[in-house]
Amino acid sequence: MKSVCLLFVVLVAAVEARQFSRCEIVKNLRHHGFPEQQMRDWVCLIEKESQNRNDAIGKLNADGSWDHGLFQINDRYWCSRGHAGKDCNVSCEALRSDNMGPAAKCAKKIFARHGFSAWTAWRAYCQGGLPNIGNC
Ligand SMILES: *[C@@H]1O[C@H](CO)[C@@H](O)[C@H](O)[C@H]1NC(C)=O
Repeated sequence: MKSVCLLFVVLVAAVEARQFSRCEIVKNLRHHGFPEQQMRDWVCLIEKESQNRNDAIGKLNADGSWDHGLFQINDRYWCSRGHAGKDCNVSCEALRSDNMGPAAKCAKKIFARHGFSAWTAWRAYCQGGLPNIGNC
Protein backbone atom coordinates (compact mmCIF):
# COMPACT_ATOMS: atom_id res chain seq x y z
CA MET A 1 0.00 0.00 0.00
CA LYS A 2 2.77 2.37 0.91
CA SER A 3 4.53 1.82 -2.40
CA VAL A 4 1.27 2.38 -4.29
CA CYS A 5 0.85 5.76 -2.58
CA LEU A 6 4.44 6.66 -3.27
CA LEU A 7 4.02 5.75 -6.93
CA PHE A 8 0.94 7.93 -7.08
CA VAL A 9 2.81 10.90 -5.63
CA VAL A 10 5.65 10.42 -8.10
CA LEU A 11 3.22 10.26 -11.03
CA VAL A 12 1.39 13.42 -9.93
CA ALA A 13 4.71 15.23 -9.57
CA ALA A 14 5.74 14.05 -13.04
CA VAL A 15 2.54 15.42 -14.58
CA GLU A 16 2.95 18.81 -12.92
CA ALA A 17 6.63 19.26 -13.71
CA ARG A 18 6.86 20.43 -17.27
CA GLN A 19 9.30 21.98 -19.63
CA PHE A 20 7.29 24.02 -22.10
CA SER A 21 8.29 24.70 -25.68
CA ARG A 22 8.86 28.30 -26.69
CA CYS A 23 5.56 28.41 -28.58
CA GLU A 24 3.67 26.90 -25.63
CA ILE A 25 5.04 29.73 -23.49
CA VAL A 26 3.90 32.30 -26.08
CA LYS A 27 0.45 30.72 -26.22
CA ASN A 28 0.15 30.81 -22.41
CA LEU A 29 1.39 34.40 -22.20
CA ARG A 30 -1.18 35.45 -24.80
CA HIS A 31 -3.90 33.54 -22.95
CA HIS A 32 -3.02 35.46 -19.79
CA GLY A 33 -3.13 38.82 -21.55
CA PHE A 34 0.52 39.80 -21.83
CA PRO A 35 0.85 42.57 -24.45
CA GLU A 36 2.21 41.56 -27.83
CA GLN A 37 4.89 44.27 -27.82
CA GLN A 38 6.38 42.75 -24.61
CA MET A 39 6.10 39.13 -25.80
CA ARG A 40 9.71 38.50 -26.83
CA ASP A 41 11.03 40.05 -23.62
CA TRP A 42 8.85 37.75 -21.50
CA VAL A 43 9.83 34.73 -23.61
CA CYS A 44 13.51 35.61 -23.18
CA LEU A 45 13.08 36.21 -19.44
CA ILE A 46 11.31 32.87 -18.87
CA GLU A 47 13.84 30.93 -20.96
CA LYS A 48 16.79 32.44 -19.13
CA GLU A 49 15.24 32.32 -15.65
CA SER A 50 13.72 28.83 -15.65
CA GLN A 51 14.50 27.11 -18.98
CA ASN A 52 10.68 27.09 -19.40
CA ARG A 53 10.17 24.74 -16.43
CA ASN A 54 7.12 25.55 -14.36
CA ASP A 55 8.50 23.57 -11.39
CA ALA A 56 11.88 25.33 -11.31
CA ILE A 57 13.35 26.31 -7.96
CA GLY A 58 16.51 28.38 -8.21
CA LYS A 59 19.64 28.06 -6.13
CA LEU A 60 19.48 29.42 -2.59
CA ASN A 61 19.98 33.19 -2.80
CA ALA A 62 22.56 34.98 -0.66
CA ASP A 63 19.79 36.40 1.56
CA GLY A 64 18.34 32.94 2.25
CA SER A 65 15.41 33.31 -0.17
CA TRP A 66 14.44 31.07 -3.09
CA ASP A 67 13.07 31.76 -6.58
CA HIS A 68 10.03 29.90 -7.89
CA GLY A 69 8.57 28.79 -11.20
CA LEU A 70 8.72 29.98 -14.80
CA PHE A 71 9.40 33.59 -13.79
CA GLN A 72 11.66 32.65 -10.83
CA ILE A 73 9.72 34.82 -8.41
CA ASN A 74 11.42 35.49 -5.09
CA ASP A 75 9.89 34.31 -1.83
CA ARG A 76 11.41 37.08 0.23
CA TYR A 77 8.91 39.62 -1.11
CA TRP A 78 6.28 38.05 -3.34
CA CYS A 79 5.04 34.63 -2.18
CA SER A 80 4.77 32.61 1.02
CA ARG A 81 5.75 28.98 1.33
CA GLY A 82 2.77 26.79 2.09
CA HIS A 83 0.04 29.45 2.11
CA ALA A 84 -1.11 32.57 0.25
CA GLY A 85 0.88 35.60 1.33
CA LYS A 86 3.28 38.50 0.81
CA ASP A 87 2.92 41.08 -1.95
CA CYS A 88 1.32 38.76 -4.53
CA ASN A 89 -0.86 37.10 -1.87
CA VAL A 90 0.03 33.74 -3.35
CA SER A 91 1.76 30.56 -2.24
CA CYS A 92 5.13 29.78 -3.80
CA GLU A 93 3.75 26.33 -4.65
CA ALA A 94 1.06 27.98 -6.81
CA LEU A 95 3.83 29.82 -8.66
CA ARG A 96 5.32 26.42 -9.58
CA SER A 97 2.10 24.75 -10.71
CA ASP A 98 1.49 23.85 -14.36
CA ASN A 99 -1.25 26.48 -14.52
CA MET A 100 0.53 29.71 -15.43
CA GLY A 101 -2.31 31.87 -14.02
CA PRO A 102 -1.03 32.67 -10.50
CA ALA A 103 2.56 33.21 -11.68
CA ALA A 104 1.38 35.42 -14.57
CA LYS A 105 -0.62 37.61 -12.22
CA CYS A 106 2.30 37.97 -9.82
CA ALA A 107 4.80 38.64 -12.64
CA LYS A 108 2.57 41.45 -13.93
CA LYS A 109 2.52 42.98 -10.45
CA ILE A 110 6.31 42.85 -10.25
CA PHE A 111 6.57 44.34 -13.74
CA ALA A 112 4.16 47.17 -12.87
CA ARG A 113 6.34 48.07 -9.91
CA HIS A 114 9.85 47.54 -11.29
CA GLY A 115 9.75 46.80 -15.02
CA PHE A 116 11.79 44.00 -16.60
CA SER A 117 14.90 45.07 -14.72
CA ALA A 118 13.47 43.35 -11.62
CA TRP A 119 14.77 40.14 -13.23
CA THR A 120 18.52 39.49 -13.12
CA ALA A 121 18.42 37.23 -16.16
CA TRP A 122 16.54 39.81 -18.22
CA ARG A 123 19.16 42.43 -17.36
CA ALA A 124 21.97 40.03 -18.19
CA TYR A 125 20.65 38.36 -21.36
CA CYS A 126 17.60 40.08 -22.83
CA GLN A 127 18.68 43.61 -23.63
CA GLY A 128 20.50 42.65 -26.81
CA GLY A 129 18.91 40.09 -29.13
CA LEU A 130 15.50 38.67 -28.31
CA PRO A 131 14.20 35.22 -29.28
CA ASN A 132 12.33 34.74 -32.52
CA ILE A 133 8.64 33.93 -32.03
CA GLY A 134 7.59 34.46 -35.62
CA ASN A 135 6.41 30.86 -36.05
CA CYS A 136 4.34 30.71 -32.85
C1 LIG B 1 -5.26 36.39 -0.12
O1 LIG B 1 -5.66 35.17 -0.67
C2 LIG B 1 -6.50 34.42 0.16
C3 LIG B 1 -6.71 33.04 -0.46
O2 LIG B 1 -6.53 33.01 -1.81
C4 LIG B 1 -7.80 35.19 0.36
O3 LIG B 1 -8.68 34.47 1.16
C5 LIG B 1 -7.48 36.54 1.00
O4 LIG B 1 -8.63 37.32 1.10
C6 LIG B 1 -6.44 37.29 0.19
N1 LIG B 1 -5.99 38.46 0.92
C7 LIG B 1 -5.85 39.65 0.36
C8 LIG B 1 -5.33 40.73 1.24
O5 LIG B 1 -6.15 39.87 -0.81
